[in-house]
Amino acid sequence: MISRRHVLTAAASAPLLAGGLRTAALADTDHPPLKELAAAKGVLYGSCAAAPQLLKPDDFTALLVRECALIVPENEMKWADMMGPGESSDYTLGDRMIDFVTSHGMAFRAHTMLWYWRTPGWFTEIADRGLAEQKMLARVKDMGTRYRGRVYSWDVVNEPLKPDDGRPDALRQSVFLEKVGPQYLDLAYHAAREADPHAKLVVNEYDIEYDTPEQDVKRLALLKLIERMKKDGTPVDAVGVQAHLSIDRLPFSAKKLRTFLADLAAFGVDLQITELDCTDEKAPADIAVRDRMVADEYARFLDVALDETAVKVLVTWGVSDRHSWIVRHETNNMKWRTDKEPSRPLPFDAALQPKPAWTAIAQALDHAPRRQAS
Ligand code: G3I
Repeated sequence: MISRRHVLTAAASAPLLAGGLRTAALADTDHPPLKELAAAKGVLYGSCAAAPQLLKPDDFTALLVRECALIVPENEMKWADMMGPGESSDYTLGDRMIDFVTSHGMAFRAHTMLWYWRTPGWFTEIADRGLAEQKMLARVKDMGTRYRGRVYSWDVVNEPLKPDDGRPDALRQSVFLEKVGPQYLDLAYHAAREADPHAKLVVNEYDIEYDTPEQDVKRLALLKLIERMKKDGTPVDAVGVQAHLSIDRLPFSAKKLRTFLADLAAFGVDLQITELDCTDEKAPADIAVRDRMVADEYARFLDVALDETAVKVLVTWGVSDRHSWIVRHETNNMKWRTDKEPSRPLPFDAALQPKPAWTAIAQALDHAPRRQAS
């Protein structure tokens, strides 16, 4: 059981972590690491990280290593973020990140081979379909083989769906669809499997967590896509539910989320919660009230999500409010606070102390059924 003592009791001294990092800022807490609470239920817990957060070690690095069994590079393996001269790629940061993560005994969740939003300009200018297919598959093969055998799971295609684009198959009118054709997805997953037969191949999607007509349509489209890929023998091993939550923005249906996750699982795929965080732009400035509201949003989502035993991975998009795309205002501006207060979207505050959102995650894990780790 998780007690308040775990969050509030002072510990005598900070443990020495792998890599020689001390949990200095955690010295006044003795909470169990989230990775341990998750592992007890067969779940891998982790976070995204940016390169400096691993490679220039500080107290935040120590927190990541202490809490996480898995790390995802936040931006460093996106195609457009790796551009070298001409059409070449620069692997420096990705290489150093995977070295750090694996040498600290953590799993590596690679993100992402293909994402329409972070695709090099030169690719978008290719006019010839055959050449576009060749270059797209070269990217998949390149990333898959370079890190072959070291990756727990690969987001092969990130965010393939956009029902609003009006296609019967609900595929996004992405640069890959436009240049290669709708078969690009299947081609990419087959190439990824060939390049790294051991990595779990993931379809990662967003806006499938809340109870709105638009998200109903997107959930159905994702179910149809996975069903179709499975039927056609396209290698997909897991579905990623990003879970960028917001308090008081959209209605939520536990029943719909539960049914959706069960329906996905019935296709024989693992499920991963891949980017959990929560914006607080609708909350008052008062920190206690705000933190409680964020924690409640985590709780109502996770109580359902972790009850589904196909969910094998839980990733928060950051661990502390010190480093978050939300705090950095990299979200859509409708999710920015209009006062001067920094957002508080993650389980630890900027001083690396656990918040009510930490307790919400810990309690959801505590209540969750045990599952076979994957
Ligand atoms: O690299 C520049 C840096 O040189 C400059 O100082 C700084 C000033 O603002 O900007 C930096 O680039 C930003 C980059 O993040 C690194 O912080 C970009 O402007 C910004 O657009 C970029 O945002 C990232 C976004 O994906 C787009 O790639 C976020 O950090 C990252 O959290 C976000 O992650 C995505 C997932 O990959 C997929 N799912 C949705 C999720 C949120 O959009």
